[in-house]
Amino acid sequence: MCDETEASAALLRWYDRAARVLPWRVGPAERAAGQRPDPYRVWLSEVMLQQTTVAAVRDYFHRFTARWPDVQALAAAEDADVMAEWAGLGYYARARNLLACARAVAAKGAFPDTAEGLRALPGIGSYTSAAIAAIAFDRPETVVDGNVERVTARVFAEETPLPRAKPVLARLAARLTPTRRPGDFAQAMMDLGATVCTPRNPCCGACPLAGFCLAHARGLAADLPRKAPKKPKPTRRGIAYVAIRADGAPLIETRPPRGLLGGMPGFPGTDWVDDPAPAPPLPADWRRLEGTVRHTFTHFHLELTVALARVPDDSVPATGAFRPDFDPASLPTVMRKVWDHAATDDLFGARGSG
Ligand code: ADE
Repeated sequence: MCDETEASAALLRWYDRAARVLPWRVGPAERAAGQRPDPYRVWLSEVMLQQTTVAAVRDYFHRFTARWPDVQALAAAEDADVMAEWAGLGYYARARNLLACARAVAAKGAFPDTAEGLRALPGIGSYTSAAIAAIAFDRPETVVDGNVERVTARVFAEETPLPRAKPVLARLAARLTPTRRPGDFAQAMMDLGATVCTPRNPCCGACPLAGFCLAHARGLAADLPRKAPKKPKPTRRGIAYVAIRADGAPLIETRPPRGLLGGMPGFPGTDWVDDPAPAPPLPADWRRLEGTVRHTFTHFHLELTVALARVPDDSVPATGAFRPDFDPASLPTVMRKVWDHAATDDLFGARGSG
């Protein structure tokens, strides 16, 4: 069994040299000099990073913090402005919870500084509360994301497959967590998982934990963590209707606040099912475009047929509203694909020409 204290010390020495420079991070040297991370930036980055990569989050993080530099500013934002800035990041319930959380924190005056206090806020679960408590407030919490699970499974050569291994790995990760510098330790584990202890082809030769790692010793590193076979995702189908008025304004509906893409703008359409029945939002000469738009959600693949029509200025739709000020950047990714597909058609090119 590895010596946890020595292993965590070796990891922290590596982090002191190799920490990634990230816009929300106070690096190890500044941290040692007494600089404290801004809990607002730590919270915002952790919410954005749930299910999303560092590369995808960077630009969003810069835009959010430029526009709303602190939690009070974000709490005062219009919902639609925040949803529009979030467009493209996915998992839109996170954006709605983000606003609810900002407003709760602004009402309190500050972020709670314990995992328990943080956990009571909207949208903050056990991962995020532990991450903010450790990173922003240096609380000795164990932060377990996918990277940390992989590193831990390898260090301890834990063979139980995921997801069954989750509680075991959380206990093992807790054994590695030091009482000194728990925030840096959490970030070091994440960085190691992202840059060295990668899912395929781990760079064991560059790893500060190689000497402590049971999987490495047994030649098993690349095989762990084991994973239970995933259920194949079903494919659902639908029709999305892009109606464009003579003045160029498209018909846009806001999706219901709960559920998939909740609160986001999009094109009216059928339900997403095996075999959708047509449901145009208004009578028109609908043209079904060739090809389909494909998008994968957490639990299913979606294949959308796009129907396009030019409609008169006095059209009255059964749902949604024509939006002369429409900005395609405010669409969630699947609807952006629908818009881009519609834009390949000649009918669309006639847009705005009356
Ligand atoms: N992934 C999730 N949170 C992170 C963080 N704080 N630093 C780097 N990667 C992360």
